[in-house]
Amino acid sequence: MHRAVLTGCGAMAKGWLRAIGERPDLAGQVQVVGLVDIDGAKAKALADEFALSDARIGSDLGAMLADVKPDVVFDVVVPPARSGVVAAALEAGAHVLSEKPMAASMDEARRMIELAKRHGRTHAVIQNRRFVSGMRRIRRFLDGAPLGAITAVHCDFFLAPHFGGFREEMDHVLLLDMAIHTFDAMRFVVGRMPQAVYCVETNPTGSWYADGAAANAIFEFGEGVVGTYRGSWCADGAPTSWESAWRIVGAKGTLLWDGHDGFEARVTSGSDGFFRETASLVVPEVEDATETQGHASVIRDFLRAIDGGTAPETVATDNIASLAMVFGAIESAGTGRRVAIEI
Ligand SMILES: NC(=O)c1ccc[n+]([C@@H]2O[C@H](COP(=O)([O-])OP(=O)(O)OC[C@H]3O[C@@H](n4cnc5c(N)ncnc54)[C@H](O)[C@@H]3O)[C@@H](O)[C@H]2O)c1
Repeated sequence: MHRAVLTGCGAMAKGWLRAIGERPDLAGQVQVVGLVDIDGAKAKALADEFALSDARIGSDLGAMLADVKPDVVFDVVVPPARSGVVAAALEAGAHVLSEKPMAASMDEARRMIELAKRHGRTHAVIQNRRFVSGMRRIRRFLDGAPLGAITAVHCDFFLAPHFGGFREEMDHVLLLDMAIHTFDAMRFVVGRMPQAVYCVETNPTGSWYADGAAANAIFEFGEGVVGTYRGSWCADGAPTSWESAWRIVGAKGTLLWDGHDGFEARVTSGSDGFFRETASLVVPEVEDATETQGHASVIRDFLRAIDGGTAPETVATDNIASLAMVFGAIESAGTGRRVAIEI
């Protein structure tokens, strides 16, 4: 049984507690022994809502760590508070699972990696949107290389949500708060490290966000593999899925995914004619349902890795590459130039 302290008792923390509470295999491995929020009343309210009557409640993470000595810390704080929380938890000897984005800057992210290494602890990041059925189906389908070598991925993300709160006030809102999911999923699909990016970021006329509600980015992944992202959080009228709508192009054919349940895969089957004939392929279902439960899947993978002494799929040393795509895109948008992505 892992003894966990959860810090940051806001909206997303409820999602974490539901993910654990609703899955007997997780509930049987994790005991939430402490809840921390700088607003202690929020920690108390969360404990009441989820009937965590045995959990300690606090507003000071340092004191809680010293008091209950958890072996894992769940970090669900707002991004500016993340580096302090991760450092305190690692220094207290806990493994840490953080919400996305991993850090508020590349330097912070590098320091976290150094600290985890120094203390011999695992630090991983929630990238729940690679643990959904569609992404896993794509990954499994591509493993057999039916499309030949992948040459391009194109992702469209167009929604118009009115969140209120911090998102409508923050800088680079789409790139920092949302696009990281699609960028991370792009890496998952192409299986390569990003090398460079060119991005145009705008806050379109009519936007109800303060900054950066739309972005168009072109990523280079090496050996001619390109990823494009067109996204907007203030594009009303024709919504895509939260997972984006995907076009994956390979040397032998194309896979389309609408971000919901719609897949279409076709590969070249003919050898003559102006347009060659193509044949349809089936994209198989996922075999292991435990891989498609979003937060629950990431938490499960994290705990399994700690127990087995292996690296979780979203370990910080890898996830920093997704963060680097975001900060590379922001730098490119700011300078108007193609930016080499440094990890
Ligand atoms: N993976 C996803 O799909 C997803 C979805 C939504 C939010 N998130 C992420 O979850 C994180 C939290 O978002 P949220 O929507 O719950 O925000 P929120 O504002 O509702 O909650 C954050 C909480 O952290 C607390 N907090 C701030 N600084 C703290 C500190 N130093 N120590 C302890 N508590 C502190 C705040 O008081 C607040 O209660 C963000 O990083 C966000 O990007 C992820």
